[in-house]
Amino acid sequence: MDKELVLVIDFGGQYNQLVARRVRENNVYCEIYSYRTPIDQIKAMNPKGIILTGGPASCYEEGAASCDKELFEMGVPVLGLCYGAQLMSLVLGGNVEKAPVREYGHTALKVDTSSPIFEGVSENTTCWMSHNDYISKIAPGFKAIATTEACPYAAIANDDEKLYGFQYHPEVLHTPEGTKMLGNFLYNVCECAGDWKMDSFVQEQIGLIREKVGNGKVLCALSGGVDSSVAAVLLSKAVGKQLTCVFVDHGLLRKDEGDQVEAVFGPDGPYDLNFIRVNAAERYYVKLAGISEPERKRKIIGEEFIRVFEEEAKKIGRVDFLVQGTIYPDVVESGLGGESAVIKSHHNVGGLPEHVDFKEIIEPLRNLFKDEVRKVGLELGIPDQLVFRQPFPGPGLGIRIIGDVSAEKVKMVQDSDAIYREEIEAAANEYAYEAAEAAGVKIDREKPDHALLRSYWPSWMPDQYFAALTNMRSVGVMGDERTYDFAVALRAVKTVDFMTAESAQIPYDILMKVMNRIINEVRGVNRVLYDLTSKPPGTVELE
Ligand code: XMP
Repeated sequence: MDKELVLVIDFGGQYNQLVARRVRENNVYCEIYSYRTPIDQIKAMNPKGIILTGGPASCYEEGAASCDKELFEMGVPVLGLCYGAQLMSLVLGGNVEKAPVREYGHTALKVDTSSPIFEGVSENTTCWMSHNDYISKIAPGFKAIATTEACPYAAIANDDEKLYGFQYHPEVLHTPEGTKMLGNFLYNVCECAGDWKMDSFVQEQIGLIREKVGNGKVLCALSGGVDSSVAAVLLSKAVGKQLTCVFVDHGLLRKDEGDQVEAVFGPDGPYDLNFIRVNAAERYYVKLAGISEPERKRKIIGEEFIRVFEEEAKKIGRVDFLVQGTIYPDVVESGLGGESAVIKSHHNVGGLPEHVDFKEIIEPLRNLFKDEVRKVGLELGIPDQLVFRQPFPGPGLGIRIIGDVSAEKVKMVQDSDAIYREEIEAAANEYAYEAAEAAGVKIDREKPDHALLRSYWPSWMPDQYFAALTNMRSVGVMGDERTYDFAVALRAVKTVDFMTAESAQIPYDILMKVMNRIINEVRGVNRVLYDLTSKPPGTVELE
């Protein structure tokens, strides 16, 4: 692709993906590479700028992650962040030592606003610090352009060579003017044009896909999640009926979800493609009957999916391409991009490629972050409700029913979950309409702009929330009757990356309303519990 590129060189910092996302939010395309990437490869990519991320080590230690001095001599602007700034100083002849005062958290920052990298930034601002080491001596040619109380070189610059360093983290939200600073680096220093836009991405991809597919046949496993949906629509726009989407309804979806997917992708929907829905619920329930061990359940659900999909693929006959909804964090986290270790082992649809005969895989979203996938989805006219769908695990409600699964239990959890989601969404939206109005922003209640509405959601709004069936039965009383029914657990978490999470503090009155409705409306449930556990030690899902 012939577009401007910024490289994010990863030194193992926990915010590396965030750095890349902030660059892209500034409409500049960037990719993450390990610090081990050879200098010649970096040169060959012809980047407009380079950003060095933070990292956990001390750059002066034996064996610490380092970089070639040549990196700073290519005439390409470089911005070092935290570890990156320290390393740049050390490599270019400055000094880095253990700081006399360790800084952590919100820190007052005084900046030199005449520097191009601080254009439009307030002279007295706030930054997020997290460091043990500091730059004790700057390299020749550099000057300080920002200070904190404890840090004489909170930001440094060598304007002639276009080299900059921040000791703090501009990429995190706790540095409120951080995105502006990164934007200044991209536009004032690197002189980027800002050609990374989702509408042009769509046009470009459609062209590329057409070229690649020719008149071949394409197969896509549609899960109803945002990634596979966006991938499918892109393909449909590119090659129409050459695409067949197979949607396996395993009977473990949320309430009415199968019908919603069919409404969008089926023959009555707006897209030009072949859609096959396989109603496999019975098959799954039979396989899962009496099985209560979580990993066994996951395995059965995954294997059965492959089996069903394989059968459908055989009916279609020759397939040239298989579409996968892989996105950029999958690429980075599988160790192909930066420095991250392999963290996630549970991915949605495992093992498909080994079971279907095809020539090649197409991954049109491979370079996109999740928020970019959503933008592409909106660009393609996919309904908001699908684009902003909560993460939903591949094994579905199968891992939200503790213990063995049955059709009755699935119904209990589906109905409880639907009530929970309805009430939370209604409360959050009401809050948002009022908050927007108070801020002088009008949002149409009939046809709301969902992205805008979500930006006014309350701070308690969970990033993921659902009802689960605990498999615990307990005694209750309803009317004059003794009951012996199931307990539902409500889960709600705030999280950035799903690796760690906290229980969300949903207002009590909303929880009470949810509890009342579940008890009254869902047969077989006589108790509602709220799960307060963080991750760790808990996980988001109950299994
Ligand atoms: P845990 O339970 O591991 O969940 O804290 C973290 C995130 O991953 C999702 N999750 C899964 N996704 N297959 C998936 O595709 C799975 O087996 C699976 N298990 C958990 C979970 O919904 C949460 O967003």
